[in-house]
Amino acid sequence: MTLEEKIDKNRLPKHLAVIMDGNGRWAKKKGLFRSKGHENGSKAVREIVEACAKLPVPYLTLYAFSTENWNRPKLEVETLMKLLVSSLKKEIDTLLDNDIRLNAIGSLDSLPKKAHSELMYVMERTKDNSQMTLTLALSYGSREEITKTIKEISLKVKNNLISPSDIDETMINNHLYTRDLPDVDLLIRTSGEHRISNFLLWQIAYAELYFTETLWPDFRKEHLFEAILNYQNRERRFGKTSEQLYP
Ligand code: FPP
Repeated sequence: MTLEEKIDKNRLPKHLAVIMDGNGRWAKKKGLFRSKGHENGSKAVREIVEACAKLPVPYLTLYAFSTENWNRPKLEVETLMKLLVSSLKKEIDTLLDNDIRLNAIGSLDSLPKKAHSELMYVMERTKDNSQMTLTLALSYGSREEITKTIKEISLKVKNNLISPSDIDETMINNHLYTRDLPDVDLLIRTSGEHRISNFLLWQIAYAELYFTETLWPDFRKEHLFEAILNYQNRERRFGKTSEQLYP
């Protein structure tokens, strides 16, 4: 039985989020420039997107560029943005063929013009696709997202559109970039780091966390299947006892 066959298709995570880490270390280990690490990282993105669409995992969210990543050397930021543009151009047909909708979260206005317009173009072209929603977190930071949400809600209170007692979790959810996405079920981080790094802090409240030593450019669909099998062997109690869940 292959790893894929062992997966229970009735208990797939609905929303999988991935912190793709380790591109730089992968390149360094091979004596290559960091850009080669990112280039090979984008090949891993392609394989994982296709595998998720096939399973299917209906929502896949990838941490492609954080608000903190703007502090990297200018050349590396430019390389990542170029890679984003070329991947979008190259993969639009794959998205259309696999019925995948492209979505993006983050402070997208901070992206360079070319990256922004290519992103908007691909999102518009794929907006009616329904097999899977692929969300790229770009110039994304969870604290920025929560701060923006608080500002928007406060303004509504100030303008007497709502009162403080109207504020509940649903209202907060509806102001986040992820308002159209379900909560994260499984979060994977590659490269042996055990951190969340300002990613989807609100949305991972009940997510299962999975850490692997594998560096992102080496991450293949078999690694994904292992993570999903591991997830399926866990008991998700959402604060309840085992006995309440299985009387
Ligand atoms: C982390 O590796 C990865 C990133 C900062 C960017 C992720 C980008 C890609 C996988 C490539 C392109 C993506 C798309 C969607 C086209 P790191 O550089 O932090 O690695 P290190 O921690 O080993 O230095």
